Amino acid sequence: MKSKHSGTDLRLRKASLNDLSLLRHWDKQPHVIACDPNDDWQWETELVRDPYWREQLIAELDGRPIGFLQIIDPALEDSHYWGDVPANLRAIDIWIGEEADLGKGYGTAMMQAALERCFKKKAITGILIDPLESNLRAHRFYERLGFRFVKKRQFGDDLCKVYQLNREEWNRWNKIV
Ligand SMILES: CC(C)(COP(=O)(O)OP(=O)(O)OC[C@H]1O[C@@H](n2cnc3c(N)ncnc32)[C@H](O)[C@@H]1OP(=O)(O)O)[C@@H](O)C(=O)NCCC(=O)NCCS
Repeated sequence: MKSKHSGTDLRLRKASLNDLSLLRHWDKQPHVIACDPNDDWQWETELVRDPYWREQLIAELDGRPIGFLQIIDPALEDSHYWGDVPANLRAIDIWIGEEADLGKGYGTAMMQAALERCFKKKAITGILIDPLESNLRAHRFYERLGFRFVKKRQFGDDLCKVYQLNREEWNRWNKIV
């Protein structure tokens, strides 16, 4: 996909074990730790597992890996992290790896590519995200993309704000009628 970011090429590709050292390096960056301090993503295990309810994706900008995206079906995800949620939703996790790449519009391009990917499937009605309550910049980022605040919710040790973007709002946002 050509992003709106000054003619650059933003693509999402499947993450693999070849990305292990890069993902571990990104895990050590303070802005990545701050957005998700209590999770161990267990890359060695998860990068070789391919459950039908999940995609793990690397975003590449002009061929350079810049960030990670995970898209799950929250109703089918095997730890039931999201609890009882309706079918036909998706939940997304996103981060940019290097601090120098923040605030340049790359995250917006990544989310737009992820939202298109999710809503391409006609049955999908909405997308969930769960930034930490303290992650004010992420809240602004999601609100600008059209996400609406749903409720505060405790996930394990993390107090989060749940946001949702429904298909109708996404259509309006993208002027699709
Ligand atoms: C959230 C994130 C993906 C947004 O991507 P981005 O490329 O920085 O965002 P964009 O440049 O497209 O948009 C900039 C907006 O993102 C928001 N933003 C969120 N986190 C930011 C950060 N650490 N630095 C700069 N902007 C950030 C701001 O609202 C900013 O808008 P503003 O200029 O009005 O303040 C990215 O900042 C990031 O990876 N942050 C750390 C990890 C994280 O918080 N992930 C979300 C967990 S739910």
